[in-house]
Amino acid sequence: MPEKYILALDQGTTSSRAILFDKYGQICHIAQKEFTQLYPQPGWVEHDAEEIWATQFSVMAEAIAKASLTTADIAAIGITNQRETTVVWDRASSKPIYNAIVWQDRRTASYCDQLKADGLAPLIQSKTGLVIDAYFSATKLKWILDNVSGAREKAVKGELAFGTIDCWLNWKLTNGKVHATDVSNASRTMLMNLETCEWDEELLRLFDIPASVLPEIIPSSKIYGVTESVVKTANIPLAGIAGDQQAALFGQQCTTPGMVKNTYGTGCFMLMHTGDKIVHSSNKLLTTVAWKLNNRVEYAVEGSIFIGGAVVQWLRDGLHMIRSSAEIEELASRVTDTDGVYIVPAFAGLGAPHWNQHARGTVFGLTRGTTRAHIARACLESIAYQTMDVLKAMEADAGLPIKELRVDGGATINNLLMQFQCDLLQVPVIRPEVYETTALGAAYLAGLGVGYWESTADIQQQWKAAKEFHPERTTEEMRSFTRGWERAIKASIAWADE
Ligand code: G3P
Repeated sequence: MPEKYILALDQGTTSSRAILFDKYGQICHIAQKEFTQLYPQPGWVEHDAEEIWATQFSVMAEAIAKASLTTADIAAIGITNQRETTVVWDRASSKPIYNAIVWQDRRTASYCDQLKADGLAPLIQSKTGLVIDAYFSATKLKWILDNVSGAREKAVKGELAFGTIDCWLNWKLTNGKVHATDVSNASRTMLMNLETCEWDEELLRLFDIPASVLPEIIPSSKIYGVTESVVKTANIPLAGIAGDQQAALFGQQCTTPGMVKNTYGTGCFMLMHTGDKIVHSSNKLLTTVAWKLNNRVEYAVEGSIFIGGAVVQWLRDGLHMIRSSAEIEELASRVTDTDGVYIVPAFAGLGAPHWNQHARGTVFGLTRGTTRAHIARACLESIAYQTMDVLKAMEADAGLPIKELRVDGGATINNLLMQFQCDLLQVPVIRPEVYETTALGAAYLAGLGVGYWESTADIQQQWKAAKEFHPERTTEEMRSFTRGWERAIKASIAWADE
């Protein structure tokens, strides 16, 4: 039988990608397209959902064509996506009624403050595992229903559909036949009950969400549909879905309790697998569904950092200090330290473990001697410091030290950042051979769903380390750096809270 492939669709915050994997979990072809970021007001971030679909469809077609394959060569499609981002569309026309409100968007921050003031944090945390924050989908969905003319009436009549990006792609790929989201994505909406993995009626009432808009919640690995003629493809099974961070956890094969990965994408997201146990954090981390596979729901504890690699994009596109993201490593290594400069990149507020919706980016310690190189280095180091804060919270929750950190995502090619990260954490930092772990995770879930891989044991042995970083400086040597960061974070929060 000729070899078949799995196609992973990786719909991220800044680009849509399609990656073909073979049976060995190796990348065969990649196609990628960036799309427009819309910032209609300070703190607001939107995407055009039609552009998301157009770019996703075009890279999908491109990857298949580039590899000289036909759709018959594709055993299954797996979807992974930026999470929480909220789309509402008209069921009849399939047209979005408003732009997608992106996970970074802060427009519902004061409503969230009100929910906190009303004492709802314990209820919401115990049901959903989440901290009240504008990050999650529920308040974004409510905003659309309340602010788009006629939306609520149409929703009540059952004319509208809501979905996170996985769900939107499912709808488009199946020509409106499938309105479904997987359990990992549903766990990020703030509307799903972690225990039952179903929509929670009390939360729907609280957020005033009509149940008619909601998708079906399905497992992360099983055939749930086939592509329709709208994509000019013949019946490719859709068989895997997971939010991008959960997919990366799976791609990194962090499948036993206590294993941890950190993905350095637009943001930085550290997840610890906790098996089939729901572990509620006492240190402001989130509890989330990792995936549902073979009828078993598995969970994770997560530290979400909103700005990771995006700080490098800001240097490139906002300040024009570098022309390409790759240039930052050379620029930052022109100096041995930041000379006391700290950047807190709270461009979208602060996520875990600080959770301050109103924080703004701040720069500390500038002198007449500060150069571009110091700023570049401070930007890179800010990614590592934020990761350190999350790791400390995770260790406090787990009650034991973390033994190693598996890393992935674009910024992990930066050796300077990875070594600094390792020195800060004092744990081995391990970069795997297949660096597209998010897409790989989705491919694995889809492949398992169609029997392309027979069992998780089949894929377990495919994970291989490419490079390990070990501490080159001691905790004592790092102490003065971390003290400066602690002061910077404190000052940044104080400034926001005043
Ligand atoms: O929760 C947001 C996250 O899913 C976004 O991921 O890779 O687009 O930064 P990424």
